[in-house]
Amino acid sequence: MIMVRFVSADGARTRDVQAAEGARLLEVAQNDGQPLEGTCEGQMACSTCHVIVAAEDFDRLPRASEEEEDMLDLAAGATRTSRLACQILLDASLDGLTVRMPGEHRDMQGR
Ligand code: FES
Repeated sequence: MIMVRFVSADGARTRDVQAAEGARLLEVAQNDGQPLEGTCEGQMACSTCHVIVAAEDFDRLPRASEEEEDMLDLAAGATRTSRLACQILLDASLDGLTVRMPGEHRDMQGR
């Protein structure tokens, strides 16, 4: 088992969750009740599984495909370390991965 850490959009809550090797990050997050819709179930057609990877963990992930980059361009609140959770397969090298949920609304709205 490996550990992943989910951080709420406002940074106030963290959850450390055990995941099986080979599991998809999106499924692990959904099983934990994290607010990721994942509407297209991994078809890279929705970007509702967007998460923000901790800067120090970002380089541990395999690079995003061009299709994933294109979807991330459309994701609200995407940052330089954004990824689609449906494209992240957890393996031992990702133990301790920390990802934050994107805000539901853009922070420019004053929240
Ligand atoms: S679930 Fe739709 S892009 Fe990841």
